[in-house]
Amino acid sequence: MIEGLERILLTEEQIDERIREVAAAVTERYRGRTLKLIGVLKGSVFFLTALARHIQVPVKIDFLGISSFGNRNGAPGLVRIARDLDDTIESEDVLLVEDIVDTGLTTRYLLQTLAGRGPHSLGIVTLLDRTCRRIVEVPVEFRCFEIDDRFVVGFGLDHKQLYRNLPYLAVLKPPV
Ligand code: PRP
Repeated sequence: MIEGLERILLTEEQIDERIREVAAAVTERYRGRTLKLIGVLKGSVFFLTALARHIQVPVKIDFLGISSFGNRNGAPGLVRIARDLDDTIESEDVLLVEDIVDTGLTTRYLLQTLAGRGPHSLGIVTLLDRTCRRIVEVPVEFRCFEIDDRFVVGFGLDHKQLYRNLPYLAVLKPPV
């Protein structure tokens, strides 16, 4: 086990199998259309590329970079776009790709912002959904796994920018 990790939560094989299932559901939903996947940097990059490889409709990709910061009381949820999309999404079928939806604040902000740009449709696909930490409701259309309240790294998710490259998802050791 790599230093700092407690145990493996989901293996590479489990993740791959589930991503194939979700990609099949996405394919079914967007059959006959061209789909634009929008990845939220940086965590979603690994999931986006894995998912896109198994989607059977024409796919375009673009990326958004965001900065999140707490307010004066230390509460989460203030988000701004630090790196915008390269292209317009007007009249396109857009699927926002996240590695994790947690409080929902980031996703809600992004949905509101992107909805204002006139897409034909706008949905969410996430690798992990941690609904126990939700503060605002967001319509997560496709999710691979629901997880409980623990710190998970790997497959794009980091701790201090490390562990993103792990091909599996692991639980981080609690701080001593
Ligand atoms: C993660 C994730 C979402 C956000 C979800 O990003 O990719 O964008 O947090 O949290 P929320 O539901 O509580 O708003 P993070 O800030 O860790 O950036 P990263 O993808 O670069 O690691």
